[in-house]
Amino acid sequence: MTYVPKDDRYEKMEYRRCGKSGLKLSAISVGMWHNFGELDSLGNCRNILRTAFDNGVTHFDLANNYGPPPGAAEKTFGRIFKEDFKEFRDQLIISTKAGYGMWPGPYGDWGSKKYLVSSLDQSLKRMELDYVDIFYHHRPDPHTPLEETMGALDLIVRQGKALYIGISNYQPKEAAEAIEILKELGTPCLIHQPKYSMFVRWVEDGLLNLLGKRGVGCIPFSPLAQGLLSNKYLKGIPADSRAGRGLPNGAVTEDDITEDKLNKVLQLNELAEQRGQPLAQMALAWILKDERITSVLIGVSKPEQVLDSIKALDNYNFTKEELNRIEEILK
Ligand SMILES: NC(=O)c1ccc[n+]([C@@H]2O[C@H](COP(=O)([O-])OP(=O)(O)OC[C@H]3O[C@@H](n4cnc5c(N)ncnc54)[C@H](OP(=O)(O)O)[C@@H]3O)[C@@H](O)[C@H]2O)c1
Repeated sequence: MTYVPKDDRYEKMEYRRCGKSGLKLSAISVGMWHNFGELDSLGNCRNILRTAFDNGVTHFDLANNYGPPPGAAEKTFGRIFKEDFKEFRDQLIISTKAGYGMWPGPYGDWGSKKYLVSSLDQSLKRMELDYVDIFYHHRPDPHTPLEETMGALDLIVRQGKALYIGISNYQPKEAAEAIEILKELGTPCLIHQPKYSMFVRWVEDGLLNLLGKRGVGCIPFSPLAQGLLSNKYLKGIPADSRAGRGLPNGAVTEDDITEDKLNKVLQLNELAEQRGQPLAQMALAWILKDERITSVLIGVSKPEQVLDSIKALDNYNFTKEELNRIEEILK
């Protein structure tokens, strides 16, 4: 059936300015690292994307290697985009990335100009798009001069294949250098995409301050620690969960769900109940309370999770006591 998005979709969402740029992103963004591969249900993928857009999510995140197999998520997205979203292209912020191994030989990985330019060309073909809104270097490359990598990103923008540039997984010192080079080239760094959740907090040691000072946006990935920061694993490992499905490529596994983690999750869950929101919402709210955060980048296996996670925006204020309690639990 022809997709007609809901008229009131922009009334439900909060939009935050990305650093000091002209671009705003929905405070909740949806990524396609998992659940958009070749074996996943196309109908479910479509329902996830429709539900997100119907509720004000404008930003959708991909990478060349998302699948499995690598490239499949971009193909799935491209197909649904063509069928459902084409006429709404100007209402969408679509990102992709390159930086991890994608094809054999010396030109299919890391951060050379050769790899980045070719990879984005392939991504655009898979998604059947003329351009992406944001193109990221996915991880720093210790062996390629930063000037070459940043020069390639600048070139891509000048070629019209991406509107904005981002970096991901860069530590504060590397990020500062990259931001400086991009500024000199005249293509400012729009956004940084780091891993950040109650369980992974390295960004608090310098990165958030740097981004705030330089006017660069921040979109944390895996804000729910891949689902661990919810109540789903408190009574065992559900078969349809990410850990239960035994997914490849860095997905959370049974071994990651330790006694110590579960004990923390149990206590966080109690606090969330006292606040009147499920733990997943509290975990997202805890990140969104910081105004340097542009958006939280969630993954979802079901459309209902999109709706649930958006409710985090109903309450991201924390009392001092609540914040102290969270610190105590996470110690
Ligand atoms: N730049 C990078 O290096 C990098 C790396 C990883 C990811 N990313 C990006 O970040 C995105 C998000 O990463 P992620 O998938 O790890 O994020 P996440 O939000 O921490 O985890 C997603 C999982 O959490 C569960 N979930 C989501 N909403 C829920 C809710 N409301 N209640 C209970 N459980 C809920 C689902 O688990 P179940 O599947 O068990 O239902 C879902 O698959 C990716 O899709 C990708 O775009 C970027």
